[in-house]
Amino acid sequence: MPNSITLTKKINGFNKSIIVSGDKSLSIRWVLFSSLANGVSKAHNLLNSEDVMAAIKAIRKFGIKVLFKKNICKIYGKGIDGYQFKKNLTINAENSGTVGRLILGLLINTSNPIRLIGDKSLSKRDFKRVSDPLSKFGAKFMLNNDKNLPLQIYGSSNLKPFKYFENKGSAQCKSTVIFGAMRTEGTTYIKAKKSRNHTELLCKYLKLPITVKSKKNYDEISVKKVKQIKTLNYKIPSDISSAAFFIVLTALSKNSKLTIKDVNINPSRTGVVTILRKMGVNIIFKKQKVYKGEKKANIEIKSSNNLKAINCPIRLNSGAIDEFLIIFLVAAKANGTSYFKDLSELNQKESPRLKWGAKILNMMGVKNIITEKSIKIFGNPNLKINKKIIIKNYLKDHRVFMTSIIAALSFGGEWEIHDKDSIKTSFPNFLNIINDLRK
Ligand code: S3P
Repeated sequence: MPNSITLTKKINGFNKSIIVSGDKSLSIRWVLFSSLANGVSKAHNLLNSEDVMAAIKAIRKFGIKVLFKKNICKIYGKGIDGYQFKKNLTINAENSGTVGRLILGLLINTSNPIRLIGDKSLSKRDFKRVSDPLSKFGAKFMLNNDKNLPLQIYGSSNLKPFKYFENKGSAQCKSTVIFGAMRTEGTTYIKAKKSRNHTELLCKYLKLPITVKSKKNYDEISVKKVKQIKTLNYKIPSDISSAAFFIVLTALSKNSKLTIKDVNINPSRTGVVTILRKMGVNIIFKKQKVYKGEKKANIEIKSSNNLKAINCPIRLNSGAIDEFLIIFLVAAKANGTSYFKDLSELNQKESPRLKWGAKILNMMGVKNIITEKSIKIFGNPNLKINKKIIIKNYLKDHRVFMTSIIAALSFGGEWEIHDKDSIKTSFPNFLNIINDLRK
């Protein structure tokens, strides 16, 4: 089976209803919380992808039983101190920054050193951002090149709370410190730049000893040691980061309309919707509900004929951090010059994504100016591609692959897009949904 895809034709107009896969952030967090619960937790619609499987494989190594069949996953938690830290354990986070970074917070009391490894992409990413704060609890780390994987964590039986200032807007950094604090006697204080708040919402739903005060740009969080976690039955809503590819495909396609059902619309994740609405995309939330502290809705989108450029406010960055590649495609077709700034974090993802955004636009013939942390995109409402574009060697970043497919279907040209296996990390069903829309 070739691992590349060739596309030569724009998609025809469609009018459909789809369901995208379960939310990745919530799926990984559900696995980790359930692994610490007293008893059996059950999830429906858990994302069945390599990233989530990496979390499941990791907790299995700590002696936690997991059954995952069809659409139902059961985790047999043994309580907050139920992990067995055997000698010479190696955990493989594979491609997942979230698994690799979050799990470390739960290992700061390990009685035996644990080695954490990852794939080629994860091994290039910054782990000092989590080993630094976690060291303050008393755990010790040895990192490759002082900041990368493989790393070795040495836990402590004498953990101390501390005050942490999270200033990158990284939910992974914030969450791993919350996990560390759950294992630490006393109160840990966190001042965190706004970022996705699934960990805090799950803590609140489970009635764990956490308080969150929301300030304009920051949250002030306090966490006390957790004695017990009750089991967590959860129906994982769909992932807005996966939905975003289809929101943009619909917006850029003629005579099209799409409903995406049961999507998580936590306000810390809907930056993409706010940005696209400002650019003139017609997006409506229908049947809004609150489920276990998380908001969800059906999302309806229509083709957009009149796309406007945006000077994107910095405050919207963290809520759209995984969606900028796909937003850049809308900017490519908008009337005027769009400006996205303060985005150095984008180059910290599975690939240097800001650079890849610019590369894809260059290949499409869309003028842009890029710096280390910003990009200006000179939109063209009549954009059409008439040449061959080859996308490869992008560290198998799933979002580069999916963005390229949407670009090919929206703007035409001949595209040869390599490493289609990359979608297995976050959205294995992506190409099936594309094929359904092309019918
Ligand atoms: C995630 C946080 C974000 C995001 C990632 C998932 C999470 O990373 O990019 O895909 O589930 O906490 P950062 O915390 O590095 O911004």
